[in-house]
Amino acid sequence: MDKRERPRVVLGVSGGIAAYKACELLRRLTESGHDVRVVPTASALHFVGEATWSALSGNPAGTEVWESVHEVPHVRIGQAADLVVVAPATADMLAKAAHGLADDLLTNTLLTARCPVVFAPAMHTEMWENPATQENVATLRRRGALVVEPAVGRLTGVDTGKGRFPDPVEIFDLCRQVLARGAEGLSQDLAGRHVVVSAGGTREPLDPVRFLGNRSSGKQGYALARTAAARGARVTLVAGDTALPDPAGVDVIHIGTARQLREAVLKAAADADAVVMAAAVADFRPAVYATGKIKKREGQEPEPVTLVRNPDILAELSADRARPGQLVVGFAAETDDVLANGRAKLARKGCDLLVVNEVGEHKTFGSAENEAVILATDGTETPVPHGPKEALADTVWDLVIARLDQPRP
Ligand code: CTP
Repeated sequence: MDKRERPRVVLGVSGGIAAYKACELLRRLTESGHDVRVVPTASALHFVGEATWSALSGNPAGTEVWESVHEVPHVRIGQAADLVVVAPATADMLAKAAHGLADDLLTNTLLTARCPVVFAPAMHTEMWENPATQENVATLRRRGALVVEPAVGRLTGVDTGKGRFPDPVEIFDLCRQVLARGAEGLSQDLAGRHVVVSAGGTREPLDPVRFLGNRSSGKQGYALARTAAARGARVTLVAGDTALPDPAGVDVIHIGTARQLREAVLKAAADADAVVMAAAVADFRPAVYATGKIKKREGQEPEPVTLVRNPDILAELSADRARPGQLVVGFAAETDDVLANGRAKLARKGCDLLVVNEVGEHKTFGSAENEAVILATDGTETPVPHGPKEALADTVWDLVIARLDQPRP
């Protein structure tokens, strides 16, 4: 692709240890055809040097407004950008951006950019939770910037908590989504909303080493969480068995069994505007859990496994709304009579929307793509053609938003 046609991304890097993870973000952005100009701060260069940024981006990577002055870089870089992503964004950088300071090339670029701006903060929990930082984040969000919630986990040194730099793959996906939606890319139509999404399969243990599980990859639920966060929602993701990294800007609660999922979802749903049950919840669990490993015995047939019903979380959420007007969305995976079974399930579960998709050995599970029909209690049926799971997720949120403030019977 001609360099002029490539989307122009400014990668601002401020001075935190997570600067080394921004190299991975940069590599993904350049390999997928973006023209990336890295603008590190002087402190960022203590962690990763100028040579690395220039070599990986193929562009100069200066920090100061006094270099190449004839090109007026302090204005041009921001003006020409299609997206500015600051990753990692330190507490100091958020403060400077919130107050409009402009004492180096990155802060000047932030003031001249007219494109969407994404901040991916990384810092210790105390700094993130400090009211000064929180007010700066609120200011930036109010002005239209997308400030990703940091992840929870291991921080530098011995500390753990909120403040960890989100997985670079997640930030990369978010950047692509923002670029794909153009000028209105930051349409924050879920801002101020809290949504709960469940994803992945549950595991029902038989003994300490065995469980009953299913083939859900969690990709659809994670796509729902990611797209809701990109549209401004506060998102709680209750995640079962998946191999996926925690999405950027999402509170993730990891669970194992259907009963743990129920507890986490009901708790999070207490103040939620919408709950989307994309998890593949096991309908049954072994009646007895053997505390020791079940052994084979010479000359003896194995004991049959007796199953008991798990609670139906979707039906419970639908019958017992945690707050008036809360919207509940279910998923139905069907192998036969897909639509007829879907309509019957919508009525049986009592939810507002049901995303019906056809599954089979080689369909949907583990795939990055999906195709579905979304059934609504008002009788509308919205077909979603074969495409990325993010596209289906966006259609679900469009339908949710359209119904959120509507009086319902
Ligand atoms: N679900 C749930 N609790 C369960 C089982 C399923 O909340 N114990 C939710 C799933 O998250 C999904 C929806 O219900 O949103 C549909 O699940 P599915 O297994 O397809 O429906 P069932 O009612 O179990 O119907 P069947 O097994 O007869 O197809």
